[in-house]
Amino acid sequence: MRVLGIETTCDETAAALLDGRGRVLSNVVHSQIPLHRKYKGVVPELASRAHCAKIADVVAEAMSRAGVSGLKKPFDAVAYANGPGLPGALLVGRTAAGVIARLYGVPEVPVNHLEGHLLSCELSDGAPRPLKFPLLALIASGGHTELWLVKGYGRYRALGRTRDDAAGEAFDKVAKLLGLDYPGGPAVEKCARDGAAQAVAFPRPLLPGTDEFSFSGLKTAVSYKLQGGKHLRKEDVCAAFQAAVVETLVSKTMDAAVRHKVRQIAVGGGVAANTALRQALEAAAAGRGMGVRFVERKFCTDNGAMLALAALRKLGGKALPRPARVNPELKIRSWAGAA
Ligand code: KG4
Ligand code: ZN
Repeated sequence: MRVLGIETTCDETAAALLDGRGRVLSNVVHSQIPLHRKYKGVVPELASRAHCAKIADVVAEAMSRAGVSGLKKPFDAVAYANGPGLPGALLVGRTAAGVIARLYGVPEVPVNHLEGHLLSCELSDGAPRPLKFPLLALIASGGHTELWLVKGYGRYRALGRTRDDAAGEAFDKVAKLLGLDYPGGPAVEKCARDGAAQAVAFPRPLLPGTDEFSFSGLKTAVSYKLQGGKHLRKEDVCAAFQAAVVETLVSKTMDAAVRHKVRQIAVGGGVAANTALRQALEAAAAGRGMGVRFVERKFCTDNGAMLALAALRKLGGKALPRPARVNPELKIRSWAGAA
């Protein structure tokens, strides 16, 4: 048993092959970062075009690296992200999965991209490390910041999400304000290493009484500070901003975990790569005797492996769904024969 996973929700064209036990046989990611860098953000139309240009090569490369290229049945199912994501980008992955599934006579398994980020916490170089339920999940990426109560595979309850900017988006926008590189998360984190968080005061958008987030005010606070204080060091602004985001994420995650009486926390998405967040959440959880599982750094950002694993968990040892069939009613007119 093997599953192909295809990811095209945003700015990564990715494909991976996993075996039936969830071991990663190949994981190919073509990043569009160089394409979007000069705009300091993802340009949806450019993203869709780049997915179109790269998807075939990325899938072929994933098959080749997994050593299944020449096989009659290289995989038993094709998983793809069916949202949330950029509409034009999603269409590319969905179309590719549909064509590939029909060509090989295997089923397609649509997967929620955020479920992929959650289950990416199980991925490793060897066999996956199953999560322990119930758990509280923090999914923090460029497009999303959500808290989920997870009772088991497929048993998810979204407790809250961001009302405006996602945490990663706030990192990206603050990096743009400071003239730092794109994507902003790694750039701000690097700059923050030489800064003092206490040198600049930023608010903590805690929104008490809710499990929701809001980071746009924090971003605006950074913008006002920069307009008002030319003497500020970039390093200090980065450190203070990062501390505000981390403290907010940690405080809200711990608060929800305690309220729902769970002992496990899982953190997925691009922002999970942030070392300050990892350290602060680990310390807070340890203080309460809770365990935290962070996605491994190489699976933090968008990839096909997380979708293939989510499909495997969804199937959960059940019989595979029937392969999609070409609709016999479909009348395809031959253009060559058209008058
Ligand atoms: O999960 P992902 O690849 O894309 C979405 O699904 O949105 O996450 C990308 C986001 C970007 O906003 C990026 O700035 C952020 O994750 N990110 C980080 C770090 N590395 C990536 N944010 C904070 N610290 C990091 N080290
Ligand atoms: Zn993502």
